[in-house]
Amino acid sequence: MRTQLLDANKQEAIFTAARILKDGGLVGIPTETVYGLAANALNGKAVAKIFAAKGRPMDNPLIVHISEFNQLYKLVKDVPEAAKKLADKFWPGPMTIILPKADIIPDEVSAGLDTVAVRFPSHPAARALIDAAGLPLAAPSANLSGHPSPTTAEHVMNDLNGKIEAVLDGGPCGVGVESTVITLATNPPRLLRPGGITLEQLREVLGEVEMDNAVLNPLQNGVRAASPGMKYKHYSPKANVIIIDSDFDAYRSYVNHHSVEGTAALCYNGEDAGLTVPTICYGGEDDYGEQARELFDALRKLDDIHAKTVYARCPEPKGVGLAVYNRLIRAAGFEVLHLG
Ligand code: TXA
Ligand code: MG
Repeated sequence: MRTQLLDANKQEAIFTAARILKDGGLVGIPTETVYGLAANALNGKAVAKIFAAKGRPMDNPLIVHISEFNQLYKLVKDVPEAAKKLADKFWPGPMTIILPKADIIPDEVSAGLDTVAVRFPSHPAARALIDAAGLPLAAPSANLSGHPSPTTAEHVMNDLNGKIEAVLDGGPCGVGVESTVITLATNPPRLLRPGGITLEQLREVLGEVEMDNAVLNPLQNGVRAASPGMKYKHYSPKANVIIIDSDFDAYRSYVNHHSVEGTAALCYNGEDAGLTVPTICYGGEDDYGEQARELFDALRKLDDIHAKTVYARCPEPKGVGLAVYNRLIRAAGFEVLHLG
């Protein structure tokens, strides 16, 4: 199959992409978080193609994207007050809400669960496309399963060229990590995946919000994942990533003393001067938003330079930094070295 690369700023490209989706095809789409791989969420056969193109395990459910709050009513059993409050504050935007699903949701979307994840993205091209198609769109991140999520159309093409009908190029993503996922199907509500909307912000609106154990820790043997996506090794570059939890001096000294062929550093901006190994920077030390925006591109660049062992600076798990930490410890297979 030839994958068309379409310019998201052109109205005719939106119509072309909408036509492909109405016909049951797949389109890579820009959102404010990461690029998504979209299909008609109400068509189980179309949704099944997403799993095939990504090589995604069938037991990992998808997020359904809408372009107006009212579209939520058709997708879930009931819209509780908490959902209205969250939507009021954070939609359109990088937050996904999980609720008991309506019968209209195909099993391919919910992977057999009785809940569905819904998000109203803020990216103008994503909203225009949902409107033009007149359909809710099921969309996971548009990477091959196990690869870092794509934050540019080029990343999507690198992973899926020849496997999907089209990619809508809307430029680099503003947030850079996937949406915050909160379930309202439990009491109290629970954060399943940190993202651009922070735990602190969710608590301001809802009061009590629990953080799922899988946000910071590997899933224990025999424990069922609240969010199936959490149990897979994710976001991995080909290299073995090790997080170094220390100040910069101890990090620099450790890295420079452990430098062999294929060693690389994933560090903060401006730190490369002190390091004797190849470096990829992923933002300023105190700029969690920039770290989120840069992380996935940095992980892909480590593959481009053929890094074998990567020593990474340890993100602060605060605010949006919690999302950065959550992604990076998965890329590192939870390997963290505490120094000093
Ligand atoms: O920002 C985002 O959320 C991006 C863009 C494209 O919207 N999408 C995205 O989708 O990151 P994906 O499939 O890569 O991640 C969805 C996560 C997975 O961890 C999945 O297990 C979880 O949400 N999830 C989806 N439906 C769920 C449900 N009903 N219950 C629990 N977890 C669910
Ligand atoms: Mg994903």
